[in-house]
Amino acid sequence: MQRLTNRQIVLGITGGIAAYKSAELTRILKGAGADVRVVMTAAATEFITPLTMQALSGHQVHQHLLDPEAEAGMGHIELAKWADMVLIAPASADFMARLDNGHGNDLLTTICLATEAPIVLAPAMNQAMWRDPQTQANARSLQQKNIRLLGPGVGEQACGDTGPGRMLEPTQIAQQAADLFDLGLLCGKRVFITAGPTREALDPVRYISNHSSGKMGYALAEAAIDAGAQVTLISGPVNLPAPQRCEVIRVESAEQMLDASLQNISQCDIFIASAAVADYRPVSIAEHKMKKGNEEIMELHLVKNPDIVATVAGLERKPFTVGFAAETQNVVTYAQGKLVRKNLDLIIANDVSRSDIGFNSDDNAVTVVSRHHVKPLPLSSKRQLAGQLIEMIASQYETAEE
Ligand code: C5P
Repeated sequence: MQRLTNRQIVLGITGGIAAYKSAELTRILKGAGADVRVVMTAAATEFITPLTMQALSGHQVHQHLLDPEAEAGMGHIELAKWADMVLIAPASADFMARLDNGHGNDLLTTICLATEAPIVLAPAMNQAMWRDPQTQANARSLQQKNIRLLGPGVGEQACGDTGPGRMLEPTQIAQQAADLFDLGLLCGKRVFITAGPTREALDPVRYISNHSSGKMGYALAEAAIDAGAQVTLISGPVNLPAPQRCEVIRVESAEQMLDASLQNISQCDIFIASAAVADYRPVSIAEHKMKKGNEEIMELHLVKNPDIVATVAGLERKPFTVGFAAETQNVVTYAQGKLVRKNLDLIIANDVSRSDIGFNSDDNAVTVVSRHHVKPLPLSSKRQLAGQLIEMIASQYETAEE
């Protein structure tokens, strides 16, 4: 079920006695690493309470199409876009008929109309209703529209009948849903990413820092999450929202960033150092705000900060380690030197003398340098670039592991 890691699943529940099994299904999907948002039809709420589903999914349950409060938060279009899969279990005969006819008269059918994600149904109904020629015609028609049907199973039914129409067991549904996803490139891998600047305090109100926005590191975190990795983002102070489905450790100074990086480092498979760490910090931090004196010149005494990425790469059991190199000249040559000096597996070099890329910009162009290869990646958005970089890192990591 590794394929469910980080997947975003809208779980639709329609009216049927099998709805009680959706509680267990939610638990299994969540346990396998998926994020589950539950949408219930009015009939479903007669069989299982939204409160139960809220407690199990960890999110408010969505029930109404025209709910101003929900639309202001996550409305039907957002849910449709958010979903990697819309899984409807149980899917009643009535729901299948409405879906096949393109209805959009409640929240769940509207999400199905609006989504580009795969739609998967686990039908559940009385055996005679399942055998009914109209239901059979609907089932065939839905399959022709690329909607997947899981089951139904055959056996004893809640009404006392025996035959086809039982909803599959939650473990079977979760497994079959998982099999519909590709295995992410970094599925099951633990990735640590440092991002943003560090702040080195001079006194309680002043610090030394730099202009790093953290955008590249945050984009890399998103891309690694999408590739199925379990991501820990160790972030200096930035103005960016924390990515979902990711552990975020917020730090200020380089020393704090090092401590956070070394926590659980033995579990880390890939370490990506995109943070712009201050090279030096004040020798001591004044206890109180420093007062203006009469001197025209003020001297600051600085001491070198630990090199975080070099420390990680120097560990006996080091993770696959990736660094960044911001250079203004001889970009590739300097990056190659840094790669060797810091014992890195890969270094991503960028030319910060160009004003259109780098710090604070939404775009970047980089050159990926390993011991044997130099590969330039042309100018693109940091998001797009992050996807390409994660693909390259995953493939180099795999080669190194072989
Ligand atoms: O030596 P330089 O600062 O150019 O190296 C840049 C690379 O080293 C980046 O990957 C950066 O995140 C990392 N670094 C670090 N700790 C430092 C300085 C840089 O991890 N103290």
